[in-house]
Amino acid sequence: MRIAIGCDHAGYNLRTLVQQYLWENNIEFDDCGCFGEVCDYADIAKLVCKRVQEKKDDFGILICGTGIGMCMSANKMKGIRAALCTDVYSAKCTRAHNDANVLCLGARVLGAGMTREILDVFLNTAFEGGRHVIRIKKMMELES
Ligand code: RB5
Repeated sequence: MRIAIGCDHAGYNLRTLVQQYLWENNIEFDDCGCFGEVCDYADIAKLVCKRVQEKKDDFGILICGTGIGMCMSANKMKGIRAALCTDVYSAKCTRAHNDANVLCLGARVLGAGMTREILDVFLNTAFEGGRHVIRIKKMMELES
């Protein structure tokens, strides 16, 4: 598994924690910035999602203050199913049911413990397929 990560300035501190989690779990990642400087979340979302679109990375993780700006931006990009998760149940269901390929986190919303649990569940839950396939097909058709 390989992951693209990105944050804006408001997400920078939580990004450090996410990097730590990935290192601890031997998960390779590509860092798309920012590096603490003030920036616009849509620019970073574009970089991360492009890597997922091009299959250079399996998943993206995007962090901003609330996670909302990143999530809205990511979902404008073709083939991206980004989910803002603030709890473990949503993280599990968005992988199992929505086959989410980008996880969005809010640095001003989440604590360290919840972030780690969300990462654990998101990265270790498989898409269930079955009845969810047609629903995702219909969702993705909304892009055109
Ligand atoms: C930056 O101040 C903040 O607006 C941004 O990180 C994010 O929360 C937007 O959705």
